Amino acid sequence: MEEFSTDRLARLTGMLKRRGLLLPAFEIHGGVAGFYDYGPVGGRIRNQVNQAWLSHWLSLGNVVEISSPTVTPYPVLEASGHVGEFTDFLVECKKCSEASRADHLIESDYPNADSFTKEELSKKISELMPICPACGVSDWGEISSQNLMFSTRIGNADSAREGFLRPETAQGMFTSFTSIYRHFRERLPFGAVQIGKGYRNEISPRQGMIRLREFNMAELEYFIDPEIEYHHNLDQWKDSLTLISENEGEMRVTLSKAVEAGVIRHSTVGYFMGITFDFVTSIGINPELIRFRQHESNEMAHYAVDCWDLEIMGSFGWIECVGIAHRGCYDLEAHEMATGQRLRAWRTFETPKIVEIDGWTIDGSTVGPEFKNFAGKIKNAVEKLPPDSIFPMSLEIDDDEVNIEPRHVKKLQRQEKISGEWFIPHVVEPAFGIDRLIWHSIDHSYREIIKSGEAYTILSLPKSISPIDVTVLPLFEKDGIDELARKIHENLCKRDRVLSNYDGSGSIGRRYARSDEIGVPYCITVDYESLENHTVTVRERDTGKQERVKIDELNFN
Ligand code: GLY
Repeated sequence: MEEFSTDRLARLTGMLKRRGLLLPAFEIHGGVAGFYDYGPVGGRIRNQVNQAWLSHWLSLGNVVEISSPTVTPYPVLEASGHVGEFTDFLVECKKCSEASRADHLIESDYPNADSFTKEELSKKISELMPICPACGVSDWGEISSQNLMFSTRIGNADSAREGFLRPETAQGMFTSFTSIYRHFRERLPFGAVQIGKGYRNEISPRQGMIRLREFNMAELEYFIDPEIEYHHNLDQWKDSLTLISENEGEMRVTLSKAVEAGVIRHSTVGYFMGITFDFVTSIGINPELIRFRQHESNEMAHYAVDCWDLEIMGSFGWIECVGIAHRGCYDLEAHEMATGQRLRAWRTFETPKIVEIDGWTIDGSTVGPEFKNFAGKIKNAVEKLPPDSIFPMSLEIDDDEVNIEPRHVKKLQRQEKISGEWFIPHVVEPAFGIDRLIWHSIDHSYREIIKSGEAYTILSLPKSISPIDVTVLPLFEKDGIDELARKIHENLCKRDRVLSNYDGSGSIGRRYARSDEIGVPYCITVDYESLENHTVTVRERDTGKQERVKIDELNFN
């Protein structure tokens, strides 16, 4: 692992731009902070990471993938609390009018400033008088709260509805709960995942790929019964991890011990921390540079009851890349209240329960004489009424309207045997910032070495997420070598899940270097011998080892 430094960061971002991995978007129009392009090489890495993420979670066996719109109507995000709560504090420089996030101005002195109230921020800014990052002057206006969602209109006419670009994919899983519940034959636990764009109108995004206004998210919403104690196999993670707990600070501990001790408050959260750790390391993140940090109570998102961030150390310091939150029943309850639709699961009791039910029955002394033979039907109808019924009321019985007066009824407490009940499931959510993970995977895989006296860079990405599987290089573009090389390249591309890159321009050394720099794990060199005996040289990126292989036996799966 190389030392992170600003010089290395500048060389790395230069390479990413030059070689078509990651580059600021819309640059020919001057660019806009917080928007990035994945170029011809980066686009493929993004796709590989998405696919790896999807397979990782689908392999649990009780998880499905869904896809919901990014444009979201106002009432959905009002119900979810985002309209009211999804805010950051903004402060404007009086000299140059540049807006800054208030907590960012003082975070070097107060790393937990993002949990400060407006008053606390105001006080600390007056004490510290930080300078404006844009003009260097220290003269600040009032702090105001800014909602981070991009608003939009759905439709064009006057009747257009208000909406937002979604700030998280999660809400799509909650609003589709009924369909997912039915898919799983109404049996918990189960989960739904979604990979897609999320949007946050960040106040002043800096740090390149780390703080984007349009970003790639991947989230799992896992629905559980809060009354069941789930026994996950946490012993499969034998090594201790670095945890920073709200109450006990930093520790090295195994997941099973942390759950047993109550440091991690729910076993499913601990289980997903393990699965998340496995995924993150599988895409090339150095396990030594990972830690889990528990949110402090006043730092948690409005919907969460417990949350652990997976943070990664890289060129920008420790950065939150995944959040594993216990959202309780917050979201389903909020959407149920807003819509009146039942978003619940059925829990069958092991043995039926006898419960006291408050209700109504008829007063025979008034109903009998007044309704005669009809009294029995009235009794049946009245006993079905809910306990909060108010009389007089009119009941439709056998197509007749019957007026039931207070004198016709009396309260009745009766016992009923019930076999189960409806309840609102709880949700555990691992939410991944795909761009931040890709950034750190690249940051950790980027190696600068000296080769034959010259600076040489290699991107040692794991094969599972490398942008291209193999580069095919003709030693010379003549004498039929180029034709054979092209044929090999095209045949490889036709294979399932193999992507090849043909490079015939420049010296062979330069071409190896270009391939290594963007993380292609293998190069194939086609030479005169290839024409004679149908073999090629296969060179491995990380070791430089070369071996002669028959063209028919090439295998990069
Ligand atoms: N759904 C988690 C987040 O929005 O960060």
